[in-house]
Amino acid sequence: MAKIAPSILAADYSALGEETKKICSKGIDYLHIDVMDGVFVPNISFGPDVMKSLLGFASVPFDVHLMITEPVRYTDRFVTDNTEFITVHYEACSDLEATIKTIKEHGVKAGVSIKPGTAPEVLDSYLKDIDMILVMTVEPGFGGQKFMEDQVYKLDYYRRKREELGLSFEIEVDGGVGSSNAHIVREAGADIIVAGSAVFRAEDMEAEIKAICG
Ligand code: DX5
Ligand code: ZN
Repeated sequence: MAKIAPSILAADYSALGEETKKICSKGIDYLHIDVMDGVFVPNISFGPDVMKSLLGFASVPFDVHLMITEPVRYTDRFVTDNTEFITVHYEACSDLEATIKTIKEHGVKAGVSIKPGTAPEVLDSYLKDIDMILVMTVEPGFGGQKFMEDQVYKLDYYRRKREELGLSFEIEVDGGVGSSNAHIVREAGADIIVAGSAVFRAEDMEAEIKAICG
């Protein structure tokens, strides 16, 4: 059974507090927070103050996905008592090692994500320092895109590496996943599944969440 992190990017922004409360009551593991800067990705979402405004409504930890250039400049702004992971993009960091170190110094788990065009091997030398790897199965920037099945081999790649090296990082997948294809990513090794539109657009959210987790 996989864990699930619904993305509030797909929620109704005019009622984010209520949306957060509602989704947290449906048996989820984390709340996925998609932060976009309009530079690293061609879209702008929301920043740390919006995330912090959800603190009074969230009953599960935050899983923060920073799609921003040089995220080390802003990581401290996303640190709260409820922040479990801060994930940065390999492609967005000029010094990934220092960025990971900064996140961990705040007592938060460090995640690293790769875009579809990035080979999984680029993270090999960082694996021992990473708490979570996030494999993108869409080009980051927008919710509701089509799942890229040709990225699934990366989940298996990291699962094998983890075993080979005796490490314990989590493997997360993000983009275009719902109940119809979640089995593919679960079988390939995903421990945590991010789902935005599939969950928020579902008629029966609870059933959709259960089916995604398997
Ligand atoms: C894309 C975001 C995803 C997105 C997922 O840039 O990182 O987290 O919200 O949304 P769906 O599940 O609709 O693809
Ligand atoms: Zn995301």
